[in-house]
Amino acid sequence: MAKQVLVTGGAGFLGSHLCERLLNDGCEVICADNFYTGDKSNILPLMDNHRFELMRHDVTFPLYVEVDEIYNLACPASPVHYQIDPVQTTKTSVHGAINMLGLAKRVRARILQASTSEVYGDPSVHPQPESYWGNVNPIGIRSCYDEGKRCAETLFFDYHRQYGVDIRVARIFNTYGPRMHPNDGRVVSNFIVQALRGEDITIYGDGRQTRSFQYVDDLIEGMVRMMATPADFPGPINIGNPEEYTIKQLAELVIELTGSASKLVARPLPQDDPRQRRPDIGLARQVLKWEPTVNVRVGLQRTIDYFRTIV
Ligand SMILES: NC(=O)c1ccc[n+]([C@@H]2O[C@H](COP(=O)([O-])OP(=O)(O)OC[C@H]3O[C@@H](n4cnc5c(N)ncnc54)[C@H](O)[C@@H]3O)[C@@H](O)[C@H]2O)c1
Repeated sequence: MAKQVLVTGGAGFLGSHLCERLLNDGCEVICADNFYTGDKSNILPLMDNHRFELMRHDVTFPLYVEVDEIYNLACPASPVHYQIDPVQTTKTSVHGAINMLGLAKRVRARILQASTSEVYGDPSVHPQPESYWGNVNPIGIRSCYDEGKRCAETLFFDYHRQYGVDIRVARIFNTYGPRMHPNDGRVVSNFIVQALRGEDITIYGDGRQTRSFQYVDDLIEGMVRMMATPADFPGPINIGNPEEYTIKQLAELVIELTGSASKLVARPLPQDDPRQRRPDIGLARQVLKWEPTVNVRVGLQRTIDYFRTIV
């Protein structure tokens, strides 16, 4: 019988790619989403598949479905979205984790949490290994997301220790690709949209802060492998691309690949913006035999091709 898989946040950017991949792998997929930042257009091509089921559901409320695996992705991921209603953001992470872990416990499902590199905050260790505990402001404007995700990790490990729930915690680093929201303020989508519209490209700070960028297909492969690890390995595992770029380099690459005449303009840095972020992926290489395969030029070109169809 086909594996039954629940994907929360399945109508979002990452969730829609994950649903697509799982269907291609022959799974029965239930996508649960409240459409806070997700969009039906992301999953429209999947709706004709008889193994795909869409449920409008908010993970802050309990859910009862019989499944073998749960991927918990429900949570707005960009500052623009998660700061609109910060209390709801924390509730989604924390109550959502409790509800999905409760479900996993009841039906004995394996559950994977889409955690984030934001649990490292503004890191004082570089690159960041999983053993680093982070440097997070608990009362700032990003805290609803960062601390919500940290608390969700705590809940995952306590459900594991206390009730034996079979957990996986993936710490996802900056990911980009087709179906990102065009207006969510994330750096890759911002730059591409600005370049395609011929507008100024806004760089926060001096542009020397660095980020690493992972193409969505690499992330999905990492998550699927992590879910499939047979041994009891709860993680956390970093899933990201360790190639590091300054924000200025990224902007210049986007201008080159789009052939845009846009100019770079500087704006002040937002509060608590991390100066640098880069994953140590030694553990993923060792345990999952995984590493990113899509280089930034190829990934950006595919993303630009997507944005050309919607901008
Ligand atoms: N994209 C990245 O670079 C990145 C990096 C680290 C972690 N993550 C994590 O991956 C997950 C997916 O991120 P994304 O980039 O696809 O973001 P997204 O905003 O596109 O997707 C999030 C999805 O969750 C849904 N959602 C939000 N609150 C919900 C709730 N209470 N109940 C049910 N559904 C709800 C949204 O409608 C949306 O479909 C998030 O948990 C995010 O924290 C993403």
